[in-house]
Amino acid sequence: MKIGIIVYSETGNTKGVAKILKQKIEAYGHKVRMEYIRADTKRRHLEIAPSTDPYDRLFFAAPVHAFTLAHPMKLYLRDLPDLPEVPVGIFVTQQFRHKIFGGAQALRKMKRMLKKRDAIITASEIVHWKHPARNRQIDEVTDKLLK
Ligand SMILES: Cc1cc2nc3c(=O)[nH]c(=O)nc-3n(C[C@H](O)[C@H](O)[C@H](O)COP(=O)(O)O)c2cc1C
Repeated sequence: MKIGIIVYSETGNTKGVAKILKQKIEAYGHKVRMEYIRADTKRRHLEIAPSTDPYDRLFFAAPVHAFTLAHPMKLYLRDLPDLPEVPVGIFVTQQFRHKIFGGAQALRKMKRMLKKRDAIITASEIVHWKHPARNRQIDEVTDKLLK
């Protein structure tokens, strides 16, 4: 199985969680590749939009911006090809400790966009960067994404 983790990250938080997820997948003996979405400084255009073609299982991850999904991930998901029956796990990271500060909205947006592509959402998770037990939360979130 070819597994891809496709990440948009500006300050490294989401990327850090994705790396832990990658290590856990590798510990199960699977091959996994991490790819990065890149946008211009104003986040209006994508400079790099990784292809999903090589993968038969995917994870998408991005930060919450302005109480919703970071715009570059919206641009990326908008232009995705169909992913019929592809299992997809999603997660977002956000600064605040409550999902009402954008996490829930961001996940809803990702789910809506991916369902349009016929993907099967297997898990959707939030990491709260200000959580006092952040490392434990990251551990739990990455475990849930692998179920
Ligand atoms: C422009 C901008 C807007 C943000 N808006 C929110 C927000 O609405 N709610 C929130 O909880 N965090 C917000 N954050 C914080 C990020 O979601 C959080 O720091 C995230 O973990 C950053 O991920 P990254 O390091 O992968 O870019 C914002 C950050 C930036 C740069």
